[in-house]
Amino acid sequence: MNKHNNISKDWWKESAVGIPKIITELPGPKSKVMHANTTKYMKGLSGQVKLFPICFEEGSGIMLKDVDGNKYLDFSSGIYVTSLGHCHPKISEAISYWAKKLMNAHDFTTPVKEKLMEKMAGILPGKLNCIQLYSDGTTAVEAAIRAARAITGKHEFISGYRDFHGKTQAAVSCAQMYRGENFSYGPTRAAGFYMVPRPDPYRPLWTKVNGSIDTDAYITFYENFLKEGTVGNVAAFVLEPAQGWAGSIFPPDDYFPKLKKLCEKYGILLYDDEVLAGMGRTGEWLTLNHWNVVPDIVTIGKSFGNGFPVAAMIVSEENGDALEKISASSSYGGNPMACAAALASIEVIEEEEILQNVRNVGAFFMKRLEKMKAEHPIIGDVKGKGFLLGIELVKDKKTKEPFEEAGKLVYQKAFRRGLAWIPAGHILRMSPPLIMDEKHAAMGLDIIEDSISEVEKEFGYV
Ligand SMILES: Cc1ncc(COP(=O)(O)O)c(C=O)c1O
Repeated sequence: MNKHNNISKDWWKESAVGIPKIITELPGPKSKVMHANTTKYMKGLSGQVKLFPICFEEGSGIMLKDVDGNKYLDFSSGIYVTSLGHCHPKISEAISYWAKKLMNAHDFTTPVKEKLMEKMAGILPGKLNCIQLYSDGTTAVEAAIRAARAITGKHEFISGYRDFHGKTQAAVSCAQMYRGENFSYGPTRAAGFYMVPRPDPYRPLWTKVNGSIDTDAYITFYENFLKEGTVGNVAAFVLEPAQGWAGSIFPPDDYFPKLKKLCEKYGILLYDDEVLAGMGRTGEWLTLNHWNVVPDIVTIGKSFGNGFPVAAMIVSEENGDALEKISASSSYGGNPMACAAALASIEVIEEEEILQNVRNVGAFFMKRLEKMKAEHPIIGDVKGKGFLLGIELVKDKKTKEPFEEAGKLVYQKAFRRGLAWIPAGHILRMSPPLIMDEKHAAMGLDIIEDSISEVEKEFGYV
């Protein structure tokens, strides 16, 4: 039982009975009309929506319902956001309490902000306890860039190939999102922002003689790059702990410990952008905890408010004074509803022992994914920790040529079978709600496996 308001840990199970349940063709007739009406005006939607234009109207736990009455199993959590399940009763109640009592008080203290600050300082590692609150991940990333400049007095930044950090100017300068057709409005990288290769164990740039990935070679390259490719004014390495948008790519275990040492040697901050991977998604509060590395700056968002827009930027105590130079105030950051959502979400993770569930069911996911990899000719790699998972599709296991067309088809076929999830080209990304049990994890993977088998047949692999 949830000790504060007697909500059972199993609150989501009733709405999950009988899912997925598809009762119309997909997209259904109402979805089609509503989507067409919306896109008369709304432009620039994501590939996820363009490939499967459904109109959703309800969510509960791991179930999503569209306007035609079709019910889906959720393998996306919105977009890594509603991690404790859609409309968790405790979190919805906490938000609506403040929606009726006090919606905004600028950056004045409120009772719920007081509680949240203490709670956050309690769960973050080391002395990460100087906090600013924002309304979305990107704004928190911008604040982190300003904070790194204020702390170090330096102005250059290094991020990793295929990282993603948001869509404002500093954030896109640290990201590799705007390539190809998206690049048509001009260069996006601001001066002083650089990108370096980061290790992808399936596609290593540098390997040891035994063929395994050579982390030291990456670190040596960085050291050389600091000397030759910068003006010696690097404020921070800006990195996702595991790459979400790129397809759930985790670095080797020795990468972050070695990078942290390099940062210490050169007086560079390690800024860990946990907007996507943090707050329990990989079975720890922060993904860097897996490697016992405490960063100098962290950002969190997405799961932080379980769907309510709230994000945070945190620096360690010794650098806290620098935050006085970068005002935290914003119109919505830290409003009482946002604080209530974040506080309730953290309490739910603790009370429902979510981290343990993620570790247990995450191990089940990986075991099953490895089996699928062994049995399917187009699965080149499976990857993940906890509930941040990916399946990489290739045309040939030897050449590892990405199989983009298969990625799109598998996404659509699985959606048609009732799985709401996220495509990423040839890497199939999965981010199920962290409350999910093995039964529903297996159900989702069955749908994906059936869809992969069908695509393999269509392309003549079996
Ligand atoms: C690692 C990372 N940082 C920052 C962001 C931006 O967050 P938001 O979309 O809330 O602005 C994202 C969004 O996907 C992300 O994955």
